Amino acid sequence: MNKKCNSLAVIGAQWGDEGKGKVVDYLTAKSSLVARFQGGNNAGHTVVTGDNTFKMHHLPVGILYPEVLCVLGNGMVIHPSVLVKEIDELQKRGVDTSNLRISEKSHIILPFHQALDNLMEGKKGDKKIGTTGLGIGPAYADKAYRCGLRMIDFISPHRFNSWLEENLPFYNQLLNKIYNHEGFSPEEIINEYQPLAERLSPYVTDTSQLVLDNLEEEKNVLFEGSQGTLLDLDHGTYPYVTSSSTVAGAIPGGLGIGPRYIGDIMGVIKAYITRVGEGPFPTEEKGDLGDYMRQKGGEYGTTTGRPRRCGWFDGVIASYTARINSLNGWAVTKIDVLGGLENIKIATSYYLKGERVDRFPSTLEDLYSVEPTYEELPGWEEDISEIRVFDQLPQNAKNYLEALEDITGVKVSLLSVGPEREQTIVLPGASFYTF
Ligand code: GDP
Ligand code: IMO
Ligand code: MG
Repeated sequence: MNKKCNSLAVIGAQWGDEGKGKVVDYLTAKSSLVARFQGGNNAGHTVVTGDNTFKMHHLPVGILYPEVLCVLGNGMVIHPSVLVKEIDELQKRGVDTSNLRISEKSHIILPFHQALDNLMEGKKGDKKIGTTGLGIGPAYADKAYRCGLRMIDFISPHRFNSWLEENLPFYNQLLNKIYNHEGFSPEEIINEYQPLAERLSPYVTDTSQLVLDNLEEEKNVLFEGSQGTLLDLDHGTYPYVTSSSTVAGAIPGGLGIGPRYIGDIMGVIKAYITRVGEGPFPTEEKGDLGDYMRQKGGEYGTTTGRPRRCGWFDGVIASYTARINSLNGWAVTKIDVLGGLENIKIATSYYLKGERVDRFPSTLEDLYSVEPTYEELPGWEEDISEIRVFDQLPQNAKNYLEALEDITGVKVSLLSVGPEREQTIVLPGASFYTF
C-alpha cells in the first residue's frame, strides 16, 4: 500500500534549461526541503527576484529560502572550488547557507577530470559532444570504474592523501602518454583542495536519513532535477547526453530513499525548445525564427554562455519524456517569448524514410534524418507577461496550451510568463500547488 507522499519532482523534459530553476524557486515557498539528486555544476538554474538574479550551479535553488533545508544528494558529482565559491558569493549577497547538507557519498570532481573532459573533447574534433568542460563525464566514469573519490573520504586528510597516492599516478600517465599533458603534482592538489575540504566538512552528513525523516514527517519535499530527459545517459540522444541519469527514476538512487516516496512528477518544458551543445535536433530553426527565439528568450547558456540552438515545440519529444518520467503535470515556461508571432508551430509526428512515426527514434541516424510534421496555430499579439490569471490569457494562447495537452496527454499545471518569481500562473485544478 502506498500512502500519499508530500513530495514533488521537477524534471527537465527537453534538453535542459527549460526553466527548472524558476519553477523550483516558485514551489520552494511551500516546501521544507529541496534536494538535488544528480548532475553537478554543469547545471545552471536561474532565479530572478526583483532586481536580483541568482545563477545556481551546485546549490538547489531552495537555498534562497533560509528556513528550507537544501540537500546535495549522493547521485551528484561535486566540484569543491565551484561549490565553495557559490557559497561565498551567496553569503556576500546576504543569503544564509547554513541549511545546506551534502551527502557523504557524493563524488568529487578533481582538476584532472576537468582536464580530461576538455582533452577528450579536443581529440574528438567534429564528433565532440559539446560538454560544459567541467569534468562531469570523467568524474562519473571514475565512480563507475569504482575508483572515484567520495565526499566522506575527501574531507578526511589521511584518506584524501592515500586516495591521491593510489590514483594520481594513473591519471598522470593517462594525461602524459595519451594527451601530452604535464599532469598534476599531489602537492598542488593538496594545497588547493585541503582548505576546500575543510570548508565543506561541516555540511557533510547522511542526507539519505535526513530526506527520509522529512518525508516520514509528511513535510513537503521537492526534488530538483538538473539537465533534461533528452540528456539522460540512457534515455537521451546518446552519445550527445550528459553522464548522469536525469529522469524521475533516478531520484530514489540519487538520494538513498525508496521509490514509494516519490509523489507527483512535474515535467518542465519551454513553449518552444532549445539545446546547447552538439547532437540531433529535429525541429531546430537555424534561420531568422531561431534568432528571434534566441534574442527574445535570452537563449544563452547559464553555465557556459554559449548561444542555445532554438526550435519549435516538439510534441513527439514531449510525449516521449512524459512517458519516460510518468509525468502527471506540465510546467510550461517562456510562453511570453512566443507573443508577436503570426503563427506558432508544434511538431506532432515525424516522417522517417517516407513513413510516419510517432515514437521518438533511438538511433542518431534516424534522429538526424526525421522530418517533423507540424500543426500550425494562430499566434497572439498581446504581451502576456503581466497576466496572473489563466482566464485572462488570449484565446490563442489557451488554444496553444490545449493543443500541447492533447498531443502529450498531460495537463498543464503551471505556466510561466516571465523570468520573475511572480510571473507565474497556477492553472485551475492543478493538484501540485497544494502538495
Ligand atoms: P534551468 O536550467 O532549467 O533552470 O533553466 P535556465 O535558468 O538555464 O534557463 C532558463 C532561462 O529562462 C533563465 O534565464 C530564466 O530566468 C528564464 N526564464 C524562466 N522562465 C521564463 C519565462 O517564463 N519567460 C521568460 N521570458 N524567461 C524565463
Ligand atoms: P541545466 O540543469 C543544458 C549539456 C552540454 C552537453 C551535454 C554534456 O541548466 O538544464 P556535460 O558537461 O554534462 O558532460 O555535457 O549536456 N548540458 C546541459 N545543457 N542545460 C544543462 O543543465 C546542461 N548540463 C549539461 O551542453 O551538450
Ligand atoms: Mg540551465
